[in-house]
Amino acid sequence: MAYNRPMMNRQLTDRFGRTIDYVRLSVTDRCDLRCFYCMPKGFRDFEEPEHWLRFDEIERVIAAFGRLGTRRIRITGGEPLVRKNLPDLSRRLAALPGIEDLSLSTNATRLARHAAELHASGIRRINVSLDTLRPERFKAITGGKLNKVLDGLMAAKHAGFSPIKINMVAMKGVNDDEIDSMVDFCIEHGFTLRFIETMPVGDTGREASDHYLDLQTVKQSLSERYELLPGVMPGGGPARYVQVAGTDLRIGFITPISQHFCETCNRVRLSVDGTLYMCLGQDHKFELRPLLRAGISDAELEQAIVEAIGLKPERHEFNEKPQQIVRFMSHTGG
Ligand code: GTP
Ligand code: 5AD
Ligand code: SF4
Repeated sequence: MAYNRPMMNRQLTDRFGRTIDYVRLSVTDRCDLRCFYCMPKGFRDFEEPEHWLRFDEIERVIAAFGRLGTRRIRITGGEPLVRKNLPDLSRRLAALPGIEDLSLSTNATRLARHAAELHASGIRRINVSLDTLRPERFKAITGGKLNKVLDGLMAAKHAGFSPIKINMVAMKGVNDDEIDSMVDFCIEHGFTLRFIETMPVGDTGREASDHYLDLQTVKQSLSERYELLPGVMPGGGPARYVQVAGTDLRIGFITPISQHFCETCNRVRLSVDGTLYMCLGQDHKFELRPLLRAGISDAELEQAIVEAIGLKPERHEFNEKPQQIVRFMSHTGG
């Protein structure tokens, strides 16, 4: 049986030969912002906390993934810092055997208060969502205050997070006039810049797809302004990087629509209610919570994870079936 093999040789491989060594862990589906492409305005219908995995349950699942070869954990949300006592969880996850890379994706609104403690808890890399540097526009996109995010980013830099990546969902008619200013901002502060194509996840994502911007055109226009060299960055995600000659700036392109990257997919998602989602763009899933609460053994938990990985689909179908994903991006943390 797969779960009795010696620890060092074990890894999760799906039906398409892809090794799964990256878990995106959503610790809450709540968020303190309302980005129009992600969550509906006035959205209050959150899952009840008793359905949320407790920290001991999360730790148990991630420990099992670690024994099965997972090296990377990214904490996501909703907005992960909305979950109480997050540094307690990250300390426990960072200590698990096999987990080499513990990272966080955040909107940074609460980072000014928590950056130092999070860094001390074992998180070394953070990615921050930031679509605009204009306060009024930030308010229109997210409903929140830009200043808090900028303060959070500076606190993160001060706390020693490295690298710090900025995630900018690039949208036609919304923020495509800020690409150059975002490049300048990231050069000034030593951040990595990533552009993301809008994905039709949930009704919000589908509506935002009216603003879809093909990143191949963005790359083309950047190459007219800068000399772009091949670039690399530490990380486990789907971004493809270039480096701007004469600077330290790396720019990543996340292109699920114009150039999908599913053949190199290495990840699954665990939502806060204990569901494993096998693909961001598909509904294939496996419910771990009932098993955990029924008292399964560690060996059975590992076997359940192996079974779940067997359900992983080949690729998303955002282009063929844009209506498919009903859940909001905040449910699985992107
Ligand atoms: P690194 O480890 O730094 O490479 O992180 P990452 O890019 O994996 O994580 P992040 O949370 O910053 O994700 C950035 C964007 O990439 C988000 O919009 C995600 O929705 C998107 N993304 C990440 N993984 C996938 C994926 O498997 N499929 C698709 N379609 N999009 C993804
Ligand atoms: N399309 C693309 N990216 C999205 N995100 C949230 N919703 C969408 C969407 N519909 C992004 C956030 C964040 C990342 C984790 O997911 O802006 O940067
Ligand atoms: Fe993996 Fe699905 Fe994302 Fe493609 S869309 S990279 S298969 S999670």
